[in-house]
Amino acid sequence: MITATTAHDLRRAVDRWRAHGERVGLVPTMGALHAGHLSLVELARSRADRVVVSVFVNPTQFGPGEDFARYPRDAARDAALLDGAGCDLLFLPAVETVYGPGCTTRVRVDGPSRGFEGEARPGHFEGVATVVAMLFNLARPDLAVFGEKDAQQLAVVRALARDLHLGVEIVAAPTVRDADGLALSSRNAYLTPAERRAAPVLFRALEAARAAIAAGERDSGRVLAQLRAVVAGEPSVSLEYAAVVTADSFQPVDRIAGEIVVPLAARLGSTRLIDNLRLRVE
Ligand code: PAF
Repeated sequence: MITATTAHDLRRAVDRWRAHGERVGLVPTMGALHAGHLSLVELARSRADRVVVSVFVNPTQFGPGEDFARYPRDAARDAALLDGAGCDLLFLPAVETVYGPGCTTRVRVDGPSRGFEGEARPGHFEGVATVVAMLFNLARPDLAVFGEKDAQQLAVVRALARDLHLGVEIVAAPTVRDADGLALSSRNAYLTPAERRAAPVLFRALEAARAAIAAGERDSGRVLAQLRAVVAGEPSVSLEYAAVVTADSFQPVDRIAGEIVVPLAARLGSTRLIDNLRLRVE
């Protein structure tokens, strides 16, 4: 595995592969890698000849008072995991490499950025869209893999790639969960043992929503009432939002039909977790 820290070294490797007709897949990450990230690498491997993984804790997607400073960072551990997972190139840039001197450019995707994470974390999706556009321009991949765990981010990135004609295929990877259903997330490391025991209630709540829809319920309000009742059974977990939205526009719907997502966010002590359920309903 090559490690590149500069745009020049990244481009040199990617250009060489592309000159040989090889397809390049990019997996953008912020490091603190877990099995969920490695599943994205595996998916990229199955769809491309070469896999580039970026590890970059992007400052512009964190708001004031968020966890940018304490976000877990362990470049040596990440590199060892990626080497073992078949990554061809680890891109590990400094902040100044991505945001060059005098950089004031920002990319804003409107529609799917509205509400939910966009409301709870003002400026978050502008930071995500900006860094993803920059990483696409740096690596010029044929495809890029994003996790369904961050469902609204996936909708924003799909809109970004489509609207700016970036020519990058966006590939979605299913959420990876612990045995008790908790979705893997780098932020799970913040949970106390008691919070970790309580956290799978979010998965159980989403499963209750899935069961209601499978039983024929098509009214979003009634499905969400069942979801909320499950979360209420765990008093240490405070639900911030739950909704039924269309998968591409990420806007709420009253009647359940087509490809939908049920996103939720909850607080456990000082930790905020998100999760979702994705369904196609005929
Ligand atoms: O999902 C993430 O880890 C980040 O938001 C991303 C896509 C790598 C952009 O910084």
